[in-house]
Amino acid sequence: MREVELLQEKIKVVVVDDVEQTRTDIKRLLYFEEDMVVVGEAANGKEALKIVAQESPDVVLMDINMPVMDGIAATETITMAYPHVSVIIISIQGEQEYLKKAMVAGAREYLVKPFSSEEMSSTIRQAHRLSRRRLNASTPPGEEPPGEKKLRLQNRFKIITFFCGKGGIGKTTLAANLAVVLASSRLKVALADLDLQFGDVSVFFNLNEMQNISDLAAEKQEVNRELLDSLLIRHASGVHILPAPFSPQEAEKVNPDIFQEMLALLREQFDCTVIDTPASFDELTLMALDQSDLILLPVRREIAAIKNVKASLDILRSLNFGGKVQVLLNQADMGFGIEIEDLERSLNLQIAHKIVNDEKTVVASLNKGVPFVTEYAGTEVAKSMVRLGEKVVKGFHQAEPAAPRKKALGRLLSFNY
Ligand SMILES: Nc1ncnc2c1ncn2[C@@H]1O[C@H](COP(=O)(O)OP(=O)(O)OP(=O)(O)O)[C@@H](O)[C@H]1O
Ligand SMILES: [Mg+2]
Repeated sequence: MREVELLQEKIKVVVVDDVEQTRTDIKRLLYFEEDMVVVGEAANGKEALKIVAQESPDVVLMDINMPVMDGIAATETITMAYPHVSVIIISIQGEQEYLKKAMVAGAREYLVKPFSSEEMSSTIRQAHRLSRRRLNASTPPGEEPPGEKKLRLQNRFKIITFFCGKGGIGKTTLAANLAVVLASSRLKVALADLDLQFGDVSVFFNLNEMQNISDLAAEKQEVNRELLDSLLIRHASGVHILPAPFSPQEAEKVNPDIFQEMLALLREQFDCTVIDTPASFDELTLMALDQSDLILLPVRREIAAIKNVKASLDILRSLNFGGKVQVLLNQADMGFGIEIEDLERSLNLQIAHKIVNDEKTVVASLNKGVPFVTEYAGTEVAKSMVRLGEKVVKGFHQAEPAAPRKKALGRLLSFNY
């Protein structure tokens, strides 16, 4: 099983079907989903009850027509006895009547055969997430829901903005993959693309939907959950995405006042909102920086990037945003002859986290339109993103300036503006 050791446990699945080949096919497909694991299988409803009692799964994939005990009776018993278990019915065309009964019996979702592996995995994730949310809502404050090790953003970084005054350092790459890491960790995550002219978050996720941020049109409209739901695209990774406009001309349509209200609503509705920005301080970016709890500033060990990052930092500090900035060293193993201590001293800030360089993986995932933290979970670059996710959840160490040290290169990096 490929490794996405995000901050979560895998979704435990039980497969129930009287046809052995169907169980084998499903298990084979689920084998490739790094956030799920099949913990048991059963050939009829009665066996299913036994396996569920033994394994305490999160999700049961349940066939309807089976000998000994059918899927509807088993669903009813399971959902009564174990409300945290989500039952997903597997049916064939023409079983609509049974399907209705299964839903009444407590099934959360259904899949109609034949279904693709993607349909199956996203249905499992969705059912599981909904069940978590329901449980959280019905659990008295201070009590942990059954079967749940809930993850909490200890530092309450609810709005996280990636910013860098120099383009091409990796804002979008890091923002997209961090959003997926956080979403895989049972957090409800939104990702907004504020690079209105040339934003490419939709390319990273292979999105073709029409809705985008320019629908926050000039005329006053009420910013409410319906509007939010209609704008956000729910990606299979669980991230809710607000893409940039398709053409630069549309950028002007976005009304900053409405965007401001939208940010407040995102803060309220999501555990975490990750924002990607252009390489300039435009009006919306300034609003996002102002509202952010954490600003992640990527840098690379090259003179032009360092010069611009230093200038960006100076502006952020003059706007009183300096206290919420953490610097990320992207492509950290590409040194270009610049020592990390010299870079830190030049910025007067410690590097909070390093992201590994891996062009092959990053480009391949971009070309496929699938984030590398899930598609290439075993790579060092993916693992370095997971560790960044951990820091976002658990908190960064207090950044302190590096000790003064004089070297020729150090002087070179002491730009003045
Ligand atoms: N860790 C990494 N390893 C290898 N290549 C990387 C890494 N991070 C980013 N890249 C590459 O760097 C380039 C720029 O990345 P990206 O588009 O994320 O930057 P950006 O800051 O969003 O740029 P822009 O300002 O143009 O929006 C891309 O080609 C990307 O594939
Ligand atoms: Mg970008």
